[in-house]
Amino acid sequence: MSDIESLLKETRSFKPDPAFSKQANWNKKTVAEFRKAGAQNSPRFWAKQAKDNLTWFTPWKKVLDWKPPFAKWFVGGKLNVSYNCLDRHVEGPGAHRRNKAAIIWEGEPGDTRVITYAELHREVCKFANVLKSQGVKKGERVVLYMPMIPELAIAMLACTRIGAPHSIVFGGFSADALRDRIDDAGAKMVITADGGFRKGAGFPLKKAVDDALSMTDIVEKVIVVERTKQDVTMKAGRDVWWHDLMEDASPKCAPAKLDSEHPLFILYTSGSTGKPKGILHTTGGYLTHVTTTFKAIFDIKDEDVYWCTADIGWITGHSYVVYGPLANGATTMMYEGVPVHPGPDRWWSLIAKWGVNIFYTAPTAIRTFIRLGDEHPNAHDLSSLRLLGTVGEPINPEAWMWYHKVIGKKRCPIVDTWWQTETGGIMITSLPGAVATKPGSATLAFPGIDAEIYDDDGEVAKPPNGGLLVVRKPWPGMLRGIWGDPKRYKEQYWSQYKDTYFAGDGAHRDKQGYFWIMGRIDDVMNISGHRIGTMEVESALVSHHDVAEAAVVGRPDDITGTAIVAFVSPVGGTDASDKFKDTLRAHVSKEIGAIARPAEIRFTDALPKTRSGKIMRRLLRDVAAGKESSGDTSTLEDFSVLAKLRESDED
Ligand code: WTA
Repeated sequence: MSDIESLLKETRSFKPDPAFSKQANWNKKTVAEFRKAGAQNSPRFWAKQAKDNLTWFTPWKKVLDWKPPFAKWFVGGKLNVSYNCLDRHVEGPGAHRRNKAAIIWEGEPGDTRVITYAELHREVCKFANVLKSQGVKKGERVVLYMPMIPELAIAMLACTRIGAPHSIVFGGFSADALRDRIDDAGAKMVITADGGFRKGAGFPLKKAVDDALSMTDIVEKVIVVERTKQDVTMKAGRDVWWHDLMEDASPKCAPAKLDSEHPLFILYTSGSTGKPKGILHTTGGYLTHVTTTFKAIFDIKDEDVYWCTADIGWITGHSYVVYGPLANGATTMMYEGVPVHPGPDRWWSLIAKWGVNIFYTAPTAIRTFIRLGDEHPNAHDLSSLRLLGTVGEPINPEAWMWYHKVIGKKRCPIVDTWWQTETGGIMITSLPGAVATKPGSATLAFPGIDAEIYDDDGEVAKPPNGGLLVVRKPWPGMLRGIWGDPKRYKEQYWSQYKDTYFAGDGAHRDKQGYFWIMGRIDDVMNISGHRIGTMEVESALVSHHDVAEAAVVGRPDDITGTAIVAFVSPVGGTDASDKFKDTLRAHVSKEIGAIARPAEIRFTDALPKTRSGKIMRRLLRDVAAGKESSGDTSTLEDFSVLAKLRESDED
């Protein structure tokens, strides 16, 4: 609640600059019209966008088929994502983009590649033929486990060309996490690289694939990109080099004419249980959503260089590094490595070097740069920037103001975009030519999106009261389900309120109807903008033979937003030492990945529980944050447990 109160005191507001509005893709008038159209008849509004912004092989017969909670968009329509992202920029009315940069890529060591639309089209067609020659058929899932190199985008687009849904696993996930996702998706092929560059060194990926595949036997083929030239073992008959396969591949490959509801990709994300959910997105609706929002929110122009710093392994990278930008014929930039290598000014030097005009990043990165000092951005020419965006977590007004002043030099509008893996594309956001911004608020729902805040009874919360963020009408980019688990899909998102999507975030609206997002209300933590389930970390911890029980909570952190705190009770006789903490951290890294490693581990004999045996996380959250427990402790089994946990603070 204190967060809500402090945000409520935020009264600063920034009106769109008339000069920006004048040139905006969506100016005030357009936005007003679209808001009205979207409110009156959202399917009709989205159908107009689908027609104006995409190329369809066959028009749809019905815009929306809504049998809650299952939606089908553009029923009967046929299209191809790679055709929309590539072919229409190299032939026909869009052919002026043939030799325009589609991807500007910079590797961490400083090597660069600029790939034109014609070249990207050729590479994608070749790799689509490779996929076919290696036995991948329409509908078969392909797992991508790769660094941030152009081949990742090429592989994604090649999958879409033949209708093979991809499932990208972020390169920071461990072999175990990779194996889970391969098994759950039932993938026969994995595409990977020997490794990638991070913090000045090559990290291994192929090795993790080998480890993962030693635990499952469903994968028949592994295609390996040579990136770092580190030593790898190639298993005969299973593993093949990307460059060998590409050598003779034909650059001609007709795009598959896919049904609008054909599965486009699966992306795993954390939920409130230990098992990640495979979020399923399909073709026509998703592409309509990301193409339209990209054009409107990022105000993209043909001359722009656009840079979204997200890794493609997360939804932001899918929607706003690859599909949204390329479907619009934009130049999208990709950077392989960490933000501060070799020095704290790498990002700012990249903006100056490539003349980046539109920059989209996460609050956690902004907070890191604030701490590193203004001299680093100030040392570079950032005058090319004209628009800034943020995503992934609530941005605190101080960080927003720093971004506005130090990076945007008070010239650039900021779009704070709220959305989720499940929503596919941006849902609540400012529109740079039309909506006044307030630091810390994601402002208003995108036209055609019906977002609201409900109280526990399912009534619209009355400002200034907060509540739970919901979406009342289906939207084109919405998830179509959880892979292989329709029951969990219903329970997770559609059981709180009738026929209404439950996002899992707390929020409130101010008098102007602006949304202020407070963050997750379930057992999902947002660590540097990445979702990690407390249950996932707990199951990783208890899988260690010396751990009897574990409870994991988040505590506020100035840089990462939330930090992971684990309360662990070791089995009797285990030495609760710092060394054991290191062991447990390494164990979690192995089970999930380094991003899930607890910032803090506290050993305890017992965990506070209710009489029915449920761990009282609310209390642990207070203990972790160093707060006195404010909540009701009347059901607490053993008060002394709490007192002891406080004492353990000292370590
Ligand atoms: C949080 C990332 C506040 C939110 C695109 C959501 C945000 C979760 C914002 C989804 C924002 C994302 N302001 N919170 N602008 N954007 N979130 O699936 O808690 O990785 O539920 O998708 O991030 O994370 P995900």
